[in-house]
Amino acid sequence: MKKLLDLISEEMGMAFEKAGYDAALGRVSLSNRPDLCEYQCNGAMAGAKRYKKAPLAIAEETAAALRESRVFSQVEVAAPGFLNLKVKESFLREYLADMRKSEKFGLEMPEKPRKYVLDYGGANIAKPLHVGHMRSAVIGESIKRILRYCGHEVIGDVHMGDWGQPMGLVVTELQERHPDLIYFDETYTGEYPKEAPFTATELEELYPTASKKSKEDQAYKEKAMENTYKIQSGVRGHRALWQHILRVSVADLKKNYERLNVEFDLWKGESDVHDLIPAMVEEMKRGGYAHESEGALVVDVKEESDTKEMPPCMILKSDGAALYNTTDLATIMDRMEKIDPDGIIYLTDKRQELYFEQVFRCARKTKLVKPETELIWMGFGTMNGRDGKPFKTRDGGVKRLESLIEETNAEMYRKITENREMPKEEAEETARIIGLAALKYGDLSNQASKDYIFDMEKFTSFEGDTGPYILYTIVRIKSILGKYREQGGSFTDAALRPAESAAEKDLAMQLAAFTAAVSGACEELAPHKICAYIYDLANAFNRFYHETRILTEEKEEKKAGWVALLLLTGDVLETCIDMLGFSAPERM
Ligand code: ARG
Repeated sequence: MKKLLDLISEEMGMAFEKAGYDAALGRVSLSNRPDLCEYQCNGAMAGAKRYKKAPLAIAEETAAALRESRVFSQVEVAAPGFLNLKVKESFLREYLADMRKSEKFGLEMPEKPRKYVLDYGGANIAKPLHVGHMRSAVIGESIKRILRYCGHEVIGDVHMGDWGQPMGLVVTELQERHPDLIYFDETYTGEYPKEAPFTATELEELYPTASKKSKEDQAYKEKAMENTYKIQSGVRGHRALWQHILRVSVADLKKNYERLNVEFDLWKGESDVHDLIPAMVEEMKRGGYAHESEGALVVDVKEESDTKEMPPCMILKSDGAALYNTTDLATIMDRMEKIDPDGIIYLTDKRQELYFEQVFRCARKTKLVKPETELIWMGFGTMNGRDGKPFKTRDGGVKRLESLIEETNAEMYRKITENREMPKEEAEETARIIGLAALKYGDLSNQASKDYIFDMEKFTSFEGDTGPYILYTIVRIKSILGKYREQGGSFTDAALRPAESAAEKDLAMQLAAFTAAVSGACEELAPHKICAYIYDLANAFNRFYHETRILTEEKEEKKAGWVALLLLTGDVLETCIDMLGFSAPERM
């Protein structure tokens, strides 16, 4: 289906043409004077010079051509040549009726769907998820869902940090505590136990302890480096231990991502490309791209037009060790080989901007990707506390994601049970659902690149631009529909009717803006646009609701028309929150 604004512009274009002017002048936009009109067209002014005619005259001739229009109920000419427009209720009704019948509410699917790899999440093995990882997961999940809804293929990859120093640290601490573990006996050739020699809870404590020790104790640090090397170079016992760390950690991560309603298609990590590095490096050398610089192997990525500092991309350190860069480049190579996507999208903290610029340039220069392969990096801002500083725990540590979720749910539980009776279990489940919406909407409603302040009070409020407000609106709609059904009403013959009040028309116009909002969010990879859209839609609905007595309406047909409007509003809202990655409870 065409977008509403395009249909309106077409009608306007036809009028310009009929009056003897270029149809392209008929471009219509949303009104910036909502007190006067819903839409406006400034084409007469644009055409004045070309046709050497007063804009007012052009506007009047065009307006005259619209006297019989099925689209406009008002075409007003205002000096010096504005066309102030209102659309007909019957036209809107037709549009919404088509939307209701069409798949995805009439959203047009791309002629050539694109295939993307989405690199998000970025969890690190052996380390608990902290609030910084939440943004990558939450924003990435939404972008994945938006792209998919719009007809593209997306393969989400968590791209774990599973190969570096933290692994060596954990192994070192294990060795300190249990030096007799069979894994450390390098003469052992038998099979290793299936069970890890530690629990998930223990693992959580191992890394911070080891990390602290390594900062204070040089010998310990060296031991950790040696252990990291042993893991990476494939010493049997060390590899086996690393496998245990990976398995225990991934199981725990999966649980946490599940609580966030975040799902990955691939659970790949840095380690997966380790074996591809030597061949890639050889290729880079052979192609003449990589050269030695102070013992290290680098690829120059500076360009003539650079105004900022652009250091070379380091491929191997002077000791021959691979870096974060190297893994990312090998991962690009691997993805091109196995998946061959049209684009790769990365979601990381915005501090990694220069890093990704280097990696992308290097990937292009060394021809790891095709010239037409899109490489997109999206940097997100920091989540700050109310003091405007990065979110911390009370004792100054990095806030863990789990505790943030728990605190939000607890606050939601308190709010839900404050004024109403609800069985404990249901209240807890509801608090989880609304709590997630509070967290995610609080994050997603901000433009991703900006920092934002986590404000528990605000995010969990049932009023204002919040997740709970959106859910409350959906639940309200469900409840009215439920009561309608109890009254014996049926949904099958609920047919839309032309709007009768200003609030009803406004709601209809908001609904009709769905495809424009979603395709805009998709093109710009901008979940905040979906948030802004549903906030407007929820407001329009609630205004309509407050001034309309739906269920006590005596004329059955009228009531059924409103029910149809409610069904559509509810469907659109639920579709949108699904794109944001949360859902609504049955009641709250
Ligand atoms: N593990 C990294 C971190 O915690 C994020 C990984 C981002 N993705 C990538 N392909 N480099 O900072």
